[in-house]
Amino acid sequence: MLSNQTKQKLSFNLSKSLIRALHSLPKPPYRVEDGIFPAISSKTLDFHYNKHFAGYINKLNGFVKGTSLENKTLEETIKETAKDETKKAIFNNAAQAFNHNFYFNCMRPFGTQIPDSVKKILEKNFGSFDEFKKQFSEKANGLFGSGWCWLYSDNKKLGIMQASNAMTPLVFDQKPILVIDVWEHAYYLDYQNKRPDSVDKFFEVINWNFVEEQMKKADLI
Ligand SMILES: [Fe+2]
Repeated sequence: MLSNQTKQKLSFNLSKSLIRALHSLPKPPYRVEDGIFPAISSKTLDFHYNKHFAGYINKLNGFVKGTSLENKTLEETIKETAKDETKKAIFNNAAQAFNHNFYFNCMRPFGTQIPDSVKKILEKNFGSFDEFKKQFSEKANGLFGSGWCWLYSDNKKLGIMQASNAMTPLVFDQKPILVIDVWEHAYYLDYQNKRPDSVDKFFEVINWNFVEEQMKKADLI
């Protein structure tokens, strides 16, 4: 006979493993059905969040179910599969799930004021805020094909990376700070082929408080 304490422990472990077994779709800190004014329409956000982002999570869950990756976090899954060609599909879906969650948290309707702490770090690394914005926008606009433009920290030094397809700074042990999705699905319904217009508008909805949190995690602040 199992004691009540043992039964409780088993039940807790079971529920914990059930919860962790599959990845769920994280909610952003705003209403998806409203879009992200004034940069992203409700239609674009609906497709992007409910079809593309959810699709990556669902595919990932299908791939990892019943494998040794089933209970791993997205970060662990990305690092374990990044250099294994046989696990390319798992990597792509795990990285896209991570990247999208990060991206949706980088924004909020109307954006926020940029904290002085964040401004100072950008000025230290790029000379001025305007120079950072110029370099980030040029790389976002210049990325050929589908991908992401990341601001990242590598040993407390900031850099901007053009990342094709699902690539993410985690693969290089760098800390992600800010990202824009420049896959066509992120902007085509609203801006058609005018990617630079969508990048300009992105700057009006950046949640700099989230960026500040990432800078703190990277020991920049
Ligand atoms: Fe996307």
